[in-house]
Amino acid sequence: MTTPSPISADGLMPPPGCPAHGMAQNGLVRLPEITDPARTYEGLRKQYGPVAPVLLHGDIEAWMVLGYRENLEVMRTPKLFSRDSRLWNAFIENRVPADSPLLPMVAWQPLCVFADGEEHARLRGAVVDGLSQFNRRGMRKYVTHYTRQLVAGFGAGGAADLVRNYAEPLPMLVVSRLLGMSPDKGPLLVEPTLDLLRGSETAAASNAVVTQVLQDLVAYKKTAPGDDLASRLIQHESQLTDTEVVEHLRLTLVAAHQGTVNLIAHTLRLILTDRRFRGNLSGGHMTLPDALEQVMWDNPSIGTIPGRWATSDTTIGGQHIRKGDLLMLCIAAANVDPEQRPDVSVPMHGNRSHLALSAGPHECPGGDIGRAIADTGIDELMSILPDMTLAVPETEIGITSNWLTTRPDALPVRFTPPRSLGDLHPAQGAPVAAQPLPAAAASPAVPFPQPPAAVPARPRSWWRSLLSR
Ligand code: HEM
Repeated sequence: MTTPSPISADGLMPPPGCPAHGMAQNGLVRLPEITDPARTYEGLRKQYGPVAPVLLHGDIEAWMVLGYRENLEVMRTPKLFSRDSRLWNAFIENRVPADSPLLPMVAWQPLCVFADGEEHARLRGAVVDGLSQFNRRGMRKYVTHYTRQLVAGFGAGGAADLVRNYAEPLPMLVVSRLLGMSPDKGPLLVEPTLDLLRGSETAAASNAVVTQVLQDLVAYKKTAPGDDLASRLIQHESQLTDTEVVEHLRLTLVAAHQGTVNLIAHTLRLILTDRRFRGNLSGGHMTLPDALEQVMWDNPSIGTIPGRWATSDTTIGGQHIRKGDLLMLCIAAANVDPEQRPDVSVPMHGNRSHLALSAGPHECPGGDIGRAIADTGIDELMSILPDMTLAVPETEIGITSNWLTTRPDALPVRFTPPRSLGDLHPAQGAPVAAQPLPAAAASPAVPFPQPPAAVPARPRSWWRSLLSR
């Protein structure tokens, strides 16, 4: 890779003598030090065009693909841009430190995400077939049910943090049922998976718990198959090994979480803070599904996919790429590429051609499930708590912003405790992860399509209450 001229992390030239933040000696932006991704990407785009050289943890070079067209080209050309990280020259030359925080994302594993061609089709085919059995109607019942259960857990106090108490647990509760977990066992997966994704000190122990729960699930589903992902993976013609089944269940859980939590959190943040966004929703200029697409354009859950590896020397975006180079697919930059969106303030009106779900052979197979969880979940939450308002000034909402993601840390809200809380769930005020699920079964034999018990009638429309605010 050539060494370009200096540029600061925000895209501006640093004043003489100023040690520019986020910039290495050779003038390259260091990804781990980026705190304002949008400005940094625009600076890089101005300096280098659609593909820019950057440094990763340990000052290892990589290419940041910023252009919309260039991202699509990389995503859609697996023969030239492989998903197999074992091709990475930094791995081959032993330059990746053993404690690199990138390793969980780039260390090769026998999963569909690291495979190409036939092997990818074999593994992914099983996951896609397994997910295709869940229709929107069945999903809706589960999302409604778990939304009510979560509100019953935090609602009595009239206050909550919508990230911790709602956006984080909801997708996992729903997806644990898709996997085949029974209502009483699903929560066993939620806290440990969240813990391992937070990378806390107990992450290794939590990982062991998740593995054990999934192994038990697979063993059980071999004896009592149902209409769920675990059973489909076990029975699939792709003939997955038991380890492959467990690992693809874990992948599904983690991938669903990462994509969906941020989508819910960002959309709720905008509803609570952005007058224009709220006005468009309440005035009928934008439906909730359209709003979700807008969020996926402007705040993609996964800001950058790490990544693809060049299978031979090539050129893209005017840069010479060597065989084994790593390309980071910067969705956040691609979605606001001026060639694609000259004016980012213009609403996209439900246009789905953003790259938040990627494209090509690895395009997210769970996008519609994520959309259904976010759409139904937010609609139901706002219906139960129509007068919900932020409990802190908007400026106090912390936002984590880095190259990997941009997301609200917390969304503290206040609301009138729902009068029918007792109907929502008997365990009023109990902490979310600790409470048993309502339709708790004695054995793990409740298959996915069995709908939860009937739910009470909805309160008045939250759209109307948005209007009155
Ligand atoms: C709307 C929320 C979601 C977003 C924004 C999202 C985003 C993504 C992205 C960006 C990728 C990477 C693709 C690549 O490497 O090019 C991905 C892969 C994947 N996602 Fe999602 N995802 C979401 C929801 C889900 C859900 C709900 C599931 C499962 C129920 C899921 C399962 C997967 C799987 C299995 C992969 C790996 C696919 C492969 O490599 O072939 N995702 N997702």
